[in-house]
Amino acid sequence: KRVALAFSGGLDTTVCVPLLEEEYGYDEVVGVTVDVGQPSEEFDEAEETAEALDLEHYVVDAKEAFAELCLDSVRANATYQGYPLGTALARPVIAEAILGVAEEHDCDALAHGCTGKGNDQLRFETVWRASDKEVIAPVRELGLTREWEIEYADEKDLPVEGGNEGAWSIDTNLWSRSVEGDDLEDPTYVPPEDIYDWTTTPGEVDGEELIEIGFEMGYPVTLNGEAVGSVELIEELNEVAGAYGVGRTDMMEDRMLGLKVRENYEHPAATVLLTAHEALEQLVFTKSERDFKQQIDDQWAQQGYKGLVDSPLVNSLEGYLDAGQEKVTGTVTVKLQGGQCRPVARDSEYGVYSESAASFNTETVDGIEQADATGVAKYHGFQERLANQVLAGVKER
Ligand code: ARG
Ligand code: SIN
Repeated sequence: KRVALAFSGGLDTTVCVPLLEEEYGYDEVVGVTVDVGQPSEEFDEAEETAEALDLEHYVVDAKEAFAELCLDSVRANATYQGYPLGTALARPVIAEAILGVAEEHDCDALAHGCTGKGNDQLRFETVWRASDKEVIAPVRELGLTREWEIEYADEKDLPVEGGNEGAWSIDTNLWSRSVEGDDLEDPTYVPPEDIYDWTTTPGEVDGEELIEIGFEMGYPVTLNGEAVGSVELIEELNEVAGAYGVGRTDMMEDRMLGLKVRENYEHPAATVLLTAHEALEQLVFTKSERDFKQQIDDQWAQQGYKGLVDSPLVNSLEGYLDAGQEKVTGTVTVKLQGGQCRPVARDSEYGVYSESAASFNTETVDGIEQADATGVAKYHGFQERLANQVLAGVKER
């Protein structure tokens, strides 16, 4: 019997290899590492660990598919409780890729190293359980703790790194880098600077930089006037904006199971693209479109967080987005400075904006004069004034 394991070469997935043989009786474990934009050292680590374990190992490049999904999330301004959905969107992409390898290489089962406390188990399994393969979650099913894993790895002489990097559970992809676990589990603990890798300490960066993002149908397609592919755009913006300390989030997050956890994220490119996209929507949408779209965005993000991007609801929301995002075409300039990314200019031929109508320097627009607002001003708040009078009258009695 053969099992395909989601393999990163980190502690959790490394201990899963012998356990799948010893505890679950699999003859062969196939490790699959899916490239969603992790730094190259992670692949080196995965390769080295796989070799040391004598593991049949495959690397699948899913960067393009993942980047497309990240940019879909930009159209929906998708964040969950303030966090751009890096890990959440990567999981279904990774799960699909592993399922593909499992089918190609005759595996009967699929396994991951997620705990029974997190979101990732659910995001993987919702994809896998649509197949006819068995799903195995050793860490959850055997009730493993990180302490137990470290001891077991030591006993078995498994190739795992020590130190702080080992204590923290880090998840990196194009869209975000997340750090959790150990001291960081205490919400009162102020994280040391060295948990950050993508962002320079904001106080230590001088200067500022303007960057212009060009959008077509809600998708970012140019950077400073140059056409750029999705993966390249995200990688470039992580570098550029990360250097200004843009895109740090230290938050309390409500996981799907109801557990509240402390999370730390870095996401420079996501912050830039989400900020710029929203700035363009402000220009091209009517107020009612803007108000309604918040509901679309919120539903998209909730589904995205749950790893349900391939659901009927999301497909329907995409239909709404396709229709409305046509107008989200134009450019936005953002300023990067001291850990901040702020929109400072926007331009679109779809702008629902008339400078002459809004300006304090002009008197009439379309035959409407300032004085025409007098009637509106008299009526404005009529009900509220009346209600307050009625209330005051009743109280006096
Ligand atoms: N809690 C986050 C999420 O559910 C990220 C978890 C990432 N995993 C990790 N081992 N750091 O999206
Ligand atoms: C885990 O618990 O395996 C990682 C964190 C998460 O899934 O939310």
